Order: sequence, then structure tokens, then C-alpha cells
Amino acid sequence: MLKDFITIHDLTTYEFNEILDLAQKIKEKPDKFRTYLQGKILAMIFQKPSLRTRVTFEVGMLQLGGEAIYLAPTDIQLGTRETPTDVAKNLERWVDGIMARTFAHSIVVELAEAARIPVVNALTDLLHPCQAMADFLTLKEKKGDLAQLKLAYVGDGNNVCHSLMLAAAKAGTHLVVATPEGYEPQEAIINQAQADGQASGFTLELTHDPAAAVKEADAVYTDVWASMGQEHEKEQRAKIFAPYQVNKELMAQAKPEALFMHCLPAHRGEEVTSEVIDSPQSVVFDQAENRLHVQKAILSLLMRQEKSV
Ligand code: CP
Ligand code: NVA
Repeated sequence: MLKDFITIHDLTTYEFNEILDLAQKIKEKPDKFRTYLQGKILAMIFQKPSLRTRVTFEVGMLQLGGEAIYLAPTDIQLGTRETPTDVAKNLERWVDGIMARTFAHSIVVELAEAARIPVVNALTDLLHPCQAMADFLTLKEKKGDLAQLKLAYVGDGNNVCHSLMLAAAKAGTHLVVATPEGYEPQEAIINQAQADGQASGFTLELTHDPAAAVKEADAVYTDVWASMGQEHEKEQRAKIFAPYQVNKELMAQAKPEALFMHCLPAHRGEEVTSEVIDSPQSVVFDQAENRLHVQKAILSLLMRQEKSV
């Protein structure tokens, strides 16, 4: 296993599956893992707000026998009060791991390069890898063989979309991404996914047509139209993204048993209607639950002294 968990692109297919398999074991028999990280302490750095990430990392550490320290945006003021490198070089003297949610992706990369202890990416403007691992665990549980599935992502080509692309590439999932013009995923991530997916049977389609994207899909995924840090674009984006709302009519064009997925928080009436997110097809709270199990697996693989688990 790697020293850090920054992007799914860095994982081998073996490591990608190892995380999913261990997460499944931890979910089935949490008691077996109660002392896995006994005495270990995780520092959690947040530049942005969070419900799921904060609670699941903290609960995860406690359930593994360790502890977590929450560092709020105002506490350390990464990059203004102190450089990420200096923060890393302090934290490594006191704690056993760092989890970071930042604006610039380069900050998480800098923390990982500077620290001798593991660093976990808990969302940057570019990527949200823990979310994608939880999403693929959810897909696997609900639908089985990931290589046989068609996943449709409808909305903004953002951090969540990028990490889903990289996960789909490892898993061999057929992914169709429908965005408005000008909101496509980044070229660099498309290239990484294409390269990673060479061996797995992964296929990626990019379109501006949401109805075409969801046709025959096993799961339909969306995310907010304005991510954290883009609040000032909210009104302009609401107009541009309106045709990309996941509503009953759009879901009707996917397979009848298609899942609805969302990383949450959701803005009901914007990217998704209440009718869809509250429907039996919706697995959004299973995704949220699985954040806990996959992150416990990631933390165990990175922070446990005995590297084989
Ligand atoms: N999905 C997710 O990361 O949620 P939070 O922003 O609440 O952590
Ligand atoms: N794309 C969203 C995800 C939130 C979990 C954001 O970055 O705000």
C-alpha cells in the first residue's frame, strides 16, 4: 500500500480492490477490528465545512481504537498563518496520520510530500477519492460485478466526477458523463482515466445530452451545481444546469431498477428533485454509511504498523 491516499489514480488495481474487500470485512464484523489502530491519532484539517467526512473519519478512528483531532479552518489557517510544509513537519512529531480537506489540490500534495506520516485526501477542488471508494463499494453491494455496469454521471465535471472517473477506470465500469458545455471534466483527469482503464475494459463517454447519458444506465449519479468555493456562481450555474436536473422523467430513461446516487449534501429542487432522492431507487444514505467503512479500511492500510491486514 502507498504511504498516502491522495488520488485513486495512484492505486494499483490490486490496491483498489484491497480497499473495497477490507471495507466489506470491516462492515460485516466491525468488532474484529476494534484495536486495529489502538493508540494512533489522526489530525483532521478542514478548510471547508463537512458533515459526513468529519463524522466518519472521527467515528472510524474511535471504532478502530484510535483518536482524532478536529482542526477547524480558523485554527491553523493553512497557507496564510503557516505553510502546508511547516504544518506537516509539526504534525508528524505528534500524530500518526493527517486527513485534509482543502481548496487547492496542491496543498494536500504538499502535505503528503512534506510529512513522513500518511496523508489522506478528504476532498480538494480537484478530487474526492474517499467518496468514490464509498460509491463503488455501494455499487458493488447493490449491483455486483462493477465491470458489467453502466454508470451515468449528470451535472458538473467537478471533484466528485473526477474521482468517479478514476474509480471507474480501475473497476472497468462503463461511465457516461453528461455536462453542460464548458463544465466538462478536466482533460488531465480524462487522460489519466483513459490510461488507467486500458487493462480493465473501462469505457468513457462524454456528452452534453443527459437523456442519452442515462439510457440503459444501472445507476444515475449527480452532485451539486456549485461546489464549495463556487457559491458566488450559484445563480448563473442554476440557469445553465437546469436541463441537467435528475427528476422522475430523466430517471425513467435509465433501467427500471437503476440506482440514484449523490455524494450529499443535496440541494433538493436543483440538481435532484425530492421525488427522486426520496424514492426507493435512491441509495444516498448507503453511500454515506459506506464512507465510514471504506475510510476505516484506508486508515488501517495506511496507519497500521503491521502493513499486511
Ligand atoms: N459527501 C461529503 O463529503 O460530505 P461532507 O461535505 O458533509 O463531508
Ligand atoms: N462537489 C461538492 C462535493 C461535496 C461533498 C463540493 O466540492 O462542494
